[in-house]
Amino acid sequence: MAKEKTQYTCTDCGGITAKWLGKCPSCNAWNTLIETAVDSSGPAKNRYAGMAALAPASEVAVLSDIEAQDVARTPTGQEELDRVLGGGMVEGGVVLIGGDPGIGKSTLILQAMDGLQRSGMHTLYVTGEESAAQVALRSRRLGLDHSQVQVLAETQLEKILATVDKLQPAVVVMDSIQTVYSDQLTSAPGSVAQVRECASHLTRMAKSSATAVVLVGHVTKEGALAGPRVLEHMVDTVLYFEGDTHSTYRLVRAIKNRFGAVNEIGVFAMTEKGLKGVSNPSAIFLSQHTEPVPGSCVLVTLEGTRPMLVEIQALVDSGGPSPRRLSVGLDRDRLAMLLAVLHRHAGVACMDQDVFVNAVGGVRISEPAADLAVLLSIQSSLRGKPLPQGFIAFGEVGLAGEVRPAPRGQERLKEAAKLGFTVAVIPKANAPKKPIPGMTVHAVERVDEAIGLVRELG
Ligand code: TYD
Ligand code: MG
Repeated sequence: MAKEKTQYTCTDCGGITAKWLGKCPSCNAWNTLIETAVDSSGPAKNRYAGMAALAPASEVAVLSDIEAQDVARTPTGQEELDRVLGGGMVEGGVVLIGGDPGIGKSTLILQAMDGLQRSGMHTLYVTGEESAAQVALRSRRLGLDHSQVQVLAETQLEKILATVDKLQPAVVVMDSIQTVYSDQLTSAPGSVAQVRECASHLTRMAKSSATAVVLVGHVTKEGALAGPRVLEHMVDTVLYFEGDTHSTYRLVRAIKNRFGAVNEIGVFAMTEKGLKGVSNPSAIFLSQHTEPVPGSCVLVTLEGTRPMLVEIQALVDSGGPSPRRLSVGLDRDRLAMLLAVLHRHAGVACMDQDVFVNAVGGVRISEPAADLAVLLSIQSSLRGKPLPQGFIAFGEVGLAGEVRPAPRGQERLKEAAKLGFTVAVIPKANAPKKPIPGMTVHAVERVDEAIGLVRELG
């Protein structure tokens, strides 16, 4: 009977029950029990059996005695993807790539697989969403007419693992993890239980056979990878697609990477022939105003290792009895905090106003160094006066009204100067020692100083 093969495991404490319960009997947490497979070789005793594959029988050694090898990486041929991966696909590495439907996950992965295949790696693309014919059609559209990538249309985990065992590919793609199911469980494909179980089997396979695995995952409406953040713990690298599906540009961000830098961003443009890397993306998040407009301030942000210029737009408008504060691409709680700082430390009040802020181009800005640009765009909208032509800003703002330094300020200034920006308001601690040709730099210590300065400038 299928039922005897499964049990229920608490995602919080790891307690096991035979039946599903609303509350975990071990730790009393609610709704934490999910279906898991019972190891056929016996219960309790074998709970950690799978770990053996992750950490093969080892002896204790002293760190300095261990020969450190650089991980073997193979570039995918997609430079922007290689950048977020930390140089390429790693042997035995597991990559999870998430994003909204239609954003380009399958396209990017197919292009990357073709690149790997060309460099001599055997690749297997397992499709659970589309038929093999649809994948072939896409590869033609991408101009990969003679692609040697092997395709398998299958959703049952045991069959997929058997095929992998037979073909011994160097890279396996599962598009998508939500479509696979294991016979061991009775839950439906896409359920938390199935996604966890299948991902953990595929991860184990990757580690024991040194196969690189790419899992494609959908993002739910709430913005989490469907099912579980638990997937993020299991895998080595987590990449997310950002940007809106209506614009041409797509961003891929590494939010976790055991083999490279986090927050590194790859920028792509969606074209007729698939995704093309944008090698110099610093200016694509600027709207091309012919004249400076109120409520717009250009921020130099540092996402990953590359400085980028992003236009921050603000609209301050008289609101109703409970004014709204909305932000797109920026943190809303941080916006509320900045408005309080602006009032308290610079005497600029927006209490009865609606405040909307937006980072242009669908890019998400997480670093606090955006604060100063957000404040200046709000003030500019409130006054109805544009900031000067060629103006940029960056710097973190503290609750006491101080302007704190941003990492790698020089680099940011140089990038802005290179793109023709001429005036900068930045934190005092970031003031350059040598003047930057073509740029007037105003270094400030406090928010009111920055606000006053901008008033003087125009
Ligand atoms: P897809 O890779 O199928 O998205 P996902 O796997 O994330 O759901 O991409 C689908 C979108 O990309 C679709 O709207 C069509 C567009 N597209 C192009 O613009 N050019 C192309 O060459 C391809 C293959 C797709
Ligand atoms: Mg797809």
